[in-house]
Amino acid sequence: MGAESNRSRFALILPAAGSGQRLGESIPKPFLSIAGRTILEHTLQPFVDTGALVHVVIPTEKNYIKTARERVITSFSHLSVEVIEGGSERQYSIEKGLDAMKAAGIDAKWVAVHDAVRPFITVDEIQRCLDAAVKFGAAIVAVPAKDTIKMVDLDKMVDQGDSAGNQDTYRIKHTPNRATCWQAQTPQIFDSTILKKAYEQARETSAVGTDDASLVEALGHDVYIVEGRRENFKITYPIDLTLTRWLMEGENA
Ligand code: CTP
Ligand code: MG
Repeated sequence: MGAESNRSRFALILPAAGSGQRLGESIPKPFLSIAGRTILEHTLQPFVDTGALVHVVIPTEKNYIKTARERVITSFSHLSVEVIEGGSERQYSIEKGLDAMKAAGIDAKWVAVHDAVRPFITVDEIQRCLDAAVKFGAAIVAVPAKDTIKMVDLDKMVDQGDSAGNQDTYRIKHTPNRATCWQAQTPQIFDSTILKKAYEQARETSAVGTDDASLVEALGHDVYIVEGRRENFKITYPIDLTLTRWLMEGENA
């Protein structure tokens, strides 16, 4: 099979099981409604639009399994989809997603992972990332770091009281050359054998990473970056939700 035919077979894990603490809304972020649709549906749309998606697994919090299933089936009636209960950390939600795919007999050669709260991903970015994954086995979408990144010493954290209340202070250990720093986004797309191995190793070593690529890197496998767009931000803080509403609803936001 050539790269083109492989391209037509990728499965997606869309983690949606977080509680959205930093956003502080009363319901989890993927289920907030904007412009008549949940963020989850907005995020899934471009993956469906690639025409290459064979199956999607959506880990959610237990109480949202039914809602997620209803919303996705209503919006994407012909899509092969499974909604499962997620885990206590993003990594465990993905792990459960991989287990669910195995149990369902889904053996797609390529597996993409994409945060359910990055609704501005485009078909072009997904396809470029998939092409790089087919070429190298592992690829992610990322953007060059905008700010200078500081590495700090967590052990040296000092609690300094002042008139405004207690504030944590961190000692800078190192400033990496900004040109070498990229901000990882999603999708992150992998040869499914490599991704499964990475998650097995993480389980064995009790390693916890904040993205999927870091687990693959820990295997010693090279991961490549495809340059994306800043619009593919993750809805994390209230400012991100304000911007999302503004971008999706314009002057009606
Ligand atoms: N996620 C998940 N399972 C978890 C934690 C997170 O599936 N146990 C998902 C989130 O629903 C989100 C994505 O992973 O779509 C990225 O995580 P993040 O932005 O950190 O979302 P939350 O964990 O919900 O937010 P916070 O960290 O502020 O609580
Ligand atoms: Mg989180």
